Amino acid sequence: SPPVLVTGAASGIGAALATRLVRAGLRVIGADRAAEMPEGVEPICCDLTDPQALAAVVDRLRGRFPRLGGLAHVAGVPGTVDAATVLAVNWLAPRKLTEGLLDSLEGGAIVSVASLAGHHPEYADQVAELAGLADDELQDWARREGLTGPRAYDLSKKLLIHHGRALAARLLPRGVRSNTISPGPVHTPILGDFRSSMNGSVERSEHLVGRHASADEIAAPAAFLLSDEASWINGVDLVADGGLIASRTAPTP
Ligand code: NAI
Repeated sequence: SPPVLVTGAASGIGAALATRLVRAGLRVIGADRAAEMPEGVEPICCDLTDPQALAAVVDRLRGRFPRLGGLAHVAGVPGTVDAATVLAVNWLAPRKLTEGLLDSLEGGAIVSVASLAGHHPEYADQVAELAGLADDELQDWARREGLTGPRAYDLSKKLLIHHGRALAARLLPRGVRSNTISPGPVHTPILGDFRSSMNGSVERSEHLVGRHASADEIAAPAAFLLSDEASWINGVDLVADGGLIASRTAPTP
């Protein structure tokens, strides 16, 4: 079957997803700035903030494979990093890779790992407009807005969710599905950064739900959404939070 591209495959959720896909017998290409990949994953070392590196990844994949079976956008950086980098890795890179590789995706599926942070109300009324801005226009807007890293993180995930849905509608005629997953806190190396950039929400979540997800508990639904088992699931954002939102919002019994 045609290969699946997984970004962020060197660590955390991306590594868990790539491992699952390899075990399921798929050919997996992992794109990450870190070269060390799970066993069986073919590495492409690239810095997702570098437009030339992204173009090279697209050219290389298009040159090697007539078709791709799926795209999983998992790489991401936390709000402890500057806003420009957050927007570049978490939003502009997945958009650019998707646009560059769309033609190779006859059938197949796209999954992007967003976040509960993408459900915050801030910028909700501007997301469609911001999603339409070119890379440099968005970065200029972010500078004018004085966007901080943490707010850029939330916005980048909101843009991913919006785009995931828009892509589903756009790609219907080609039989390509597009969905996103929004995890609550997950035990991966990034979690320490979230503790310092998310105003206590990681701690509150642990208190409410009792623990954090393992990377594989997010990789499992991501693998499902990529697979034909999810053939009728399209244009949704799947919240995978162990009941966190329910515990915040459910009426007390
Ligand atoms: P992680 O830090 O273990 O993995 C992130 C991966 O992205 C790393 O392998 C890293 O090398 C790669 N990466 C970062 N910047 C890059 C760049 N410029 N070029 C190439 N690769 C780059 O973190 P985790 O938790 O596995 O994160 C995966 C996704 O899940 C991210 O998009 C994150 O925002 C999202 N997420 C994570 C949550 C958590 O609590 N861990 C909660 C909600 C969403």
